[in-house]
Amino acid sequence: MCGIVGYKGFKKASKILLDSVRRLEYRGYDSVGMAVLGESGIIVKKGAGNVDKVNNELFFEELEGSIGVAHTRWATTGEVNNVNSHPHLSNNNKICVVHNGIVENYQEIKKFLENKGFCFISQTDTEVIPNYVQYFIDNGESFEDAVKKTLRIIKGSFAVVIMSEDDGIIIGARRGSPLVLGIGFGEFFLASDVPAFSECTDKVVYLDDDEFAVLGDDYHIYDFNTGRENFKKINIINWSFEQAKKGEYEHFMLKEINEQGNTIKKAAEQSIELIREATDLINGACGVFLVGCGTSYHACVSASYIFSKIAKKHVNVLLASEFRNYEHFLSSNTLVIAVSQSGETADVIDAVSFAKKHGCRTLSIVNVMGSTLTRLCSLNIMMNAGPEICVLSTKSYTSQLAVLTLLAYSAVDKFKQAKKLLVDVAGKVNDLINNINDDLKLLAGKLKRVNDLFLIGRDLAYPSALEGALKIKEVSYIHAEGFAGAELKHGTMALIQDGVPVIALNTRGTNDLLVNNIMEVKARGAFVIGIDSRNNELYDFFIKVPGADIADPVLMIIPIQLLAYYLALAKNLNPDQPRNLAKSVTVK
Ligand code: F6R
Repeated sequence: MCGIVGYKGFKKASKILLDSVRRLEYRGYDSVGMAVLGESGIIVKKGAGNVDKVNNELFFEELEGSIGVAHTRWATTGEVNNVNSHPHLSNNNKICVVHNGIVENYQEIKKFLENKGFCFISQTDTEVIPNYVQYFIDNGESFEDAVKKTLRIIKGSFAVVIMSEDDGIIIGARRGSPLVLGIGFGEFFLASDVPAFSECTDKVVYLDDDEFAVLGDDYHIYDFNTGRENFKKINIINWSFEQAKKGEYEHFMLKEINEQGNTIKKAAEQSIELIREATDLINGACGVFLVGCGTSYHACVSASYIFSKIAKKHVNVLLASEFRNYEHFLSSNTLVIAVSQSGETADVIDAVSFAKKHGCRTLSIVNVMGSTLTRLCSLNIMMNAGPEICVLSTKSYTSQLAVLTLLAYSAVDKFKQAKKLLVDVAGKVNDLINNINDDLKLLAGKLKRVNDLFLIGRDLAYPSALEGALKIKEVSYIHAEGFAGAELKHGTMALIQDGVPVIALNTRGTNDLLVNNIMEVKARGAFVIGIDSRNNELYDFFIKVPGADIADPVLMIIPIQLLAYYLALAKNLNPDQPRNLAKSVTVK
């Protein structure tokens, strides 16, 4: 995944592009580059490293001009180095491209262009795009037509922004990867995501697959297959630019953890009509599948318990990437509920597309308005969590739990009861964080050198153990695994020895049985950290979390999110940008 941006207006493009690309760093940060069209033509600056590093070396803001493109890369084709960084230029240096996605047939195109005398200097798939555009222009096409023809030929999923030196215009196009158009007063923005330009405008057009936007003095959007102009709705975004800034916090991760008192409440503020419509789909279905990846998958696992307990309903939970294997159980009576923060995760998109091919009904629970998932599903419930910038999902997880809880209660006509429960729980978040913050800093200091860590929980706390392990490992790089309490003894107990930390996620409902499992690990020397509403003499370290009954998973995850954050700090790691990870995974 990469972040791409384009600007055409009257201000200094390099300043706007630099700010924009900084806000897209969550999409990838191994290299960065910018191209601005100035008086002497297109000038490109690019290099390996994150935005601050490369900017300190290259001074992007020295570029003069009011039209340009920029890119923050997360390598897929071609190693991380200066040459492979974007933007990429055509052989005649007049066409410049930034790209997110994969050109699947680039080898074939490259061979074709090499036979026509074109040279390639990078290992990327992207470089075929500016050169193909140049090829068509050399053969008499206009820039617009050359782009159109190129887009029809390239295969794969992509979002591109293409700038022409001779025409002084930029074109943005997409198929499968996100691209949004921002409309200001006398200026236009193209970006992979709205926060890139939300400081400048709140007017947004979501481009659909196979559309391209031409930005000159005005903007026009066309279908690049048919050439027909599309007149699209302008959306007003409903969150402020401030929400996409760190504000008083040192990191987005901490900010987003702290926002949960508000975001859980917002997630519960759904229109009754929408929830009723979704409930009808659930109750009318013969077979409900919940699909997601990573943290969103854990929210689905949690929901399966909540549906079972509250609605007495069985729902199937599947990793989105495994969904296709259940083909024989899909029909027009099946409902597939896709849960995703970004709405762009390739495995989720694939599962939903597959479901649609089989005639299934589709419902999404999603955070990013206008994302691919929202356009695929027939009904969408927004999580209303606001932009989540840290690579780790924190507030989006509790929002997903909140929406899924609403749906489970609504399935038995108890929407109001669920809303009250969630609002009560949301009201406890700030006190919880204030009460446990110092203890978690202390605990992180104790745990920062351990190699392995285990989390156990039964019943509703089991998915929280899975999610807690994911949080800890992805940001602190400590090996962490979550288990159902009883499961540890079926093998993994062999790893428990003196001092190995085990986090026990305990609730009133699970206490009697979990205590057995805690005693088992204690007998092997484990250092037991209890996350519980009541202390227990078995705990070597205790974190008190108020009991919340069916909403226990919502509160229980917060101490682990904070612990993961403080572990990253204790190990001198950047919690917002863990190694090898990007915010949404747009490849299968
Ligand atoms: C973990 C994390 C990932 C995502 C997963 C799905 O902190 O962020 O595991 O949950 O990549 O992403 P979405 O929810 O955008 O589909």
